[in-house]
Order: sequence, then structure tokens, then C-alpha cells
Amino acid sequence: MFELKNKIALITGSQQGIGREIALVLARAGARVVVTDIDKGECEKVAAEIKKAKGKANAKKLDVTNYQEFEKRVQETIKEQGRLDILVNNAGIYIQKDLTKMTLEEIDKIIKVNFYGAVYGCRAILPHLKKRKQGRIINIASTAGFASESPLSAVYSATKGALIDFTRQMALDLAPYRINVNAIAPGKTETKMLESRLEANKGKKQKMLAEIPLAKFGLPKDTAFACLYLVSDEANHITGHTLVVDGGWLIKYFL
Ligand SMILES: NC(=O)c1ccc[n+]([C@@H]2O[C@H](COP(=O)([O-])OP(=O)(O)OC[C@H]3O[C@@H](n4cnc5c(N)ncnc54)[C@H](O)[C@@H]3O)[C@@H](O)[C@H]2O)c1
Repeated sequence: MFELKNKIALITGSQQGIGREIALVLARAGARVVVTDIDKGECEKVAAEIKKAKGKANAKKLDVTNYQEFEKRVQETIKEQGRLDILVNNAGIYIQKDLTKMTLEEIDKIIKVNFYGAVYGCRAILPHLKKRKQGRIINIASTAGFASESPLSAVYSATKGALIDFTRQMALDLAPYRINVNAIAPGKTETKMLESRLEANKGKKQKMLAEIPLAKFGLPKDTAFACLYLVSDEANHITGHTLVVDGGWLIKYFL
């Protein structure tokens, strides 16, 4: 079960945090993973860790805001490995600021990394997946895409909401090609992104934890195992779905 032998998976933003854990977990399930991020040296460290555990991995530099680079990496991988089966659009940044204090560059950047990055990835890989009439795409969204999670994060939340909508619509368009498109919405998860949020919101950690019914932050592996399920054959009847991994935080919005 949850066997990914002979599958090739490209994961964006996987030099650390949730993306790194997804790379480790998919590799452990037998996939060859292409670890990509903005710093090739850091990706190589993750790939080395996977190989040390007898997994299969490659490392490539990929800035998801650069469409040409995305297309190049996808084509290169197809050439080197013969095909690509899975794309995980995980790269993301968080900026918590009053909109009038955000520079125009910051506004462009957060939309480009969090939303365009996934759109670019899909555009780059789809001709290949459609030709083969199979494939899995996972977009890493956030509970912020469903409900107002934190103050001063409207642009971040909007990028994640857009990703959830994009996932639904793409799933419809791609169903005839047997390509499943799903998203995962993690709640607050222990990574560098959360560390910097806690740093900027000193003294609010206990309040944040108190809002989570399971009373703990998520771990990267919580999202990684959800991802493993969604890309496995066992999830072949699931498409257009956003799987929430948040210790119950979102429940109160549906009561
Ligand atoms: N940690 C949380 O609490 C949390 C909650 C909900 C959703 N998420 C989402 O999970 C995903 C992973 O976040 P994380 O918590 O692991 O954060 P993180 O900061 O540890 O990792 C994000 C990764 O994205 C990479 N990245 C940034 N800009 C990039 C670009 N232009 N091209 C390629 N890669 C780029 C970074 O280098 C980094 O490795 C993000 O999409 C984030 O929005 C995180």
C-alpha cells in the first residue's frame, strides 16, 4: 500500500520544511524525487540524505516564479528519467504586514511564488501528463485559504484561496485525462515559516495553540503523509479535493 516504486516526483520548495519532508516520505515509498528550490546546494543536501537511506533523488535549482526555468527543469527530468508522474507545488512565502506597508515588490512576490508558481508548474508539466493520460498534481494551500487565520495576511490568504479554486477547476478540466489534482491545507506547522511568524508575534504562541483543538502545531510529516496518500494509487478516486491537516483548527468555522 502507498507504494510509489517507479514513480518520478518533482517537489518545489523542498530544501527545507514541509517540502523537504514530502521529498523524504515519497522517496521512502519508492519514488525517485527531484528536490528543487532556489538554492541548489541545499537541495543537494536533501538529495544526499535520501540517497544515504537508499532512496533515489536528484537536486535541481528551480525558482518557481521563472516560467522558463520551470519548463526547462520539467523537460530535463523527462529526458533524464523517461517521464514525470507527480508534481507537488509546495514553494511558498509568508508576509504579514499592513497592505499599505507592503512594497509593490512584496505584493508581486508573494502572489508570484504562492500562486503563479503552481500555475506555471501545471502549465509546464501538463502537455506531458495529458499525452500519457495519467498523473498527480498536489498544491500546498493553507487553512488561510478557507478562513481568516491571522491579521495582516490578506494577500497571503488570497493566494491560498486562489490555489484551492485553481485545484478544483483544474481537476474538472483534467479528469478526462486521468490526471488527479488535489490540494492540502496545512494549519500552523513547525517549520522556519512558523518560527518567523512566532518571532514576529511574540507572546502569542499559547493563544495560537489554544485555538487548535488538538492543542499542538502540525509537524511537516503530517502534511507529507497526507501527500503520500493523495499521490498513491489508493487515492485514485479523489480529485478536486483539499485535504485539511490542521489539528481541527478549521472545525469552528463550520459549526
Ligand atoms: N508552516 C506553516 O505553518 C504552513 C501553514 C500552511 C501552509 N504552509 C505552506 O506550506 C508550504 C511550505 O512552507 P513551509 O512551512 O515548509 O515553509 P519554509 O519557509 O520552511 O519552506 C518554504 C520553501 O519554499 C522555498 N521558496 C521560496 N520562494 C521560492 C521560489 N521563488 N521558488 C522556489 N522555492 C521557493 C523556500 O526556499 C523554502 O525552502 C508553503 O506553501 C506554505 O505557504 C505552511
